Amino acid sequence: MSNHALDVVLVGGGMITHDQILPSLYHLQRQGRLGAIKICALDSAPLRALADEPVFAEAFPGQSFEAFPSLDTPETEKFPKLYRELIAALPPRNLVVVALPDHMHDPAIRFALEHDQHVLVVKPLVLRYDQAVAIERLAHRRGVFVGIEYHKRFDRRSLEARRHYRSGRLGEFRCGEAKMIEPYYYRHSNFQNWFTRENTDPMTYVGCHYVDLVYFVTGLRPTEVAVRGIEGAFPNGKVGFLWASGMVTWENGAILTVITGLGYPDEAPGTNDQAICLYGEGPENGTIIKHNDQFRGCSYGYTDRTAGAAFRFINPDYFRLVPWPGEGLRPVGYGYDSIEGLVQSAADVNAAGDRLPARQAVLDEIDARGIIATPKNSSINELVIEATRLSILADGRPAVIEYDPTPQARLR
Ligand SMILES: NC(=O)c1ccc[n+]([C@@H]2O[C@H](COP(=O)([O-])OP(=O)(O)OC[C@H]3O[C@@H](n4cnc5c(N)ncnc54)[C@H](O)[C@@H]3O)[C@@H](O)[C@H]2O)c1
Repeated sequence: MSNHALDVVLVGGGMITHDQILPSLYHLQRQGRLGAIKICALDSAPLRALADEPVFAEAFPGQSFEAFPSLDTPETEKFPKLYRELIAALPPRNLVVVALPDHMHDPAIRFALEHDQHVLVVKPLVLRYDQAVAIERLAHRRGVFVGIEYHKRFDRRSLEARRHYRSGRLGEFRCGEAKMIEPYYYRHSNFQNWFTRENTDPMTYVGCHYVDLVYFVTGLRPTEVAVRGIEGAFPNGKVGFLWASGMVTWENGAILTVITGLGYPDEAPGTNDQAICLYGEGPENGTIIKHNDQFRGCSYGYTDRTAGAAFRFINPDYFRLVPWPGEGLRPVGYGYDSIEGLVQSAADVNAAGDRLPARQAVLDEIDARGIIATPKNSSINELVIEATRLSILADGRPAVIEYDPTPQARLR
């Protein structure tokens, strides 16, 4: 049991599964670190798209996944509970990957933990702090791993910043700004079905990347959040927040402004816009951490528009499939490193064997090291999400985050 290649049930076959998760899992499978891969979606349509993806055939010749429902099922038939059967049939201490829309993470994670499975979940873990705590406790009690896929943590520039901030060389963070503007075309995608006012908003959806990153680099906890949102209608008529601007205050008094939205021009080269700049103070000078996360110094003009436009900035640091000495192509970048780190953590827990205290000791070590995001070491994110939701639904009134005696967010 302890050193077997983990079998995988991947729940959700959407954009992130296509762009990052499945190719990463295939590469780990090719190395013998993962066993069989089953993917479950609400219906067969996204599964067919994954199965027919020519890039996967080129990169991972001979590899495939098992589809649930099967590929020949009419896409009008929906299977909202099928993933439960797959998880229940998986022997304990294998791996469930949760890539469902944000508000569906909690029940899927709990179901997996109740069946003694390790869990890899795309960000955000959940939308409420009490859910994160319940997940943390359940996982610890059963000696299984839960890791959250905050891949910006694995960007080499984030790791470099964390090391030198924590050694004092980058001073103390005082004031900064971050932005993440996703493409306009998202409005036409499946987003319009779930990215609605009552479920989420851009600050919750992508602002969390940079909130998590400031915490990852500096170790500072957020204490107040104020977010104004701008509503608009999706093509199907549903209403959501399409833009948001937030101000996050940190426990040392530092301030981070975060702008987010679904509106980066589809034809513009970046595919989205993202950056962070943190100004700080040393004993006798100013300090700065400035990352342009959109333009990484690489741009291509193509003969075709497969990339959505003829000219694009390329981000080879995040995720690319590139030639390597082996067959096909291999994934490179922090998107792959992040998945590999999470899968390795689950394997490390299994390597501790059948004794619960031994597995719990490994879990405690992963929590304490703080590189892999876990429910225990990253639940400031759920507090910021709660505060964001309170604030944005109250037209930008600030919400405070208190840590004693019990962590909670409340409107000021
Ligand atoms: N880390 C990142 O940068 C990043 C980027 C994109 C998305 N995400 C996260 O990934 C998650 C999914 O996002 P996406 O863009 O892939 O969404 P998507 O809408 O493209 O895909 C959602 C998938 O969930 C499936 N699904 C819905 N209900 C289901 C059910 N009951 N059983 C099984 N499958 C079900 C759908 O069939 C679909 O394949 C979200 O939590 C999002 O926040 C993270």
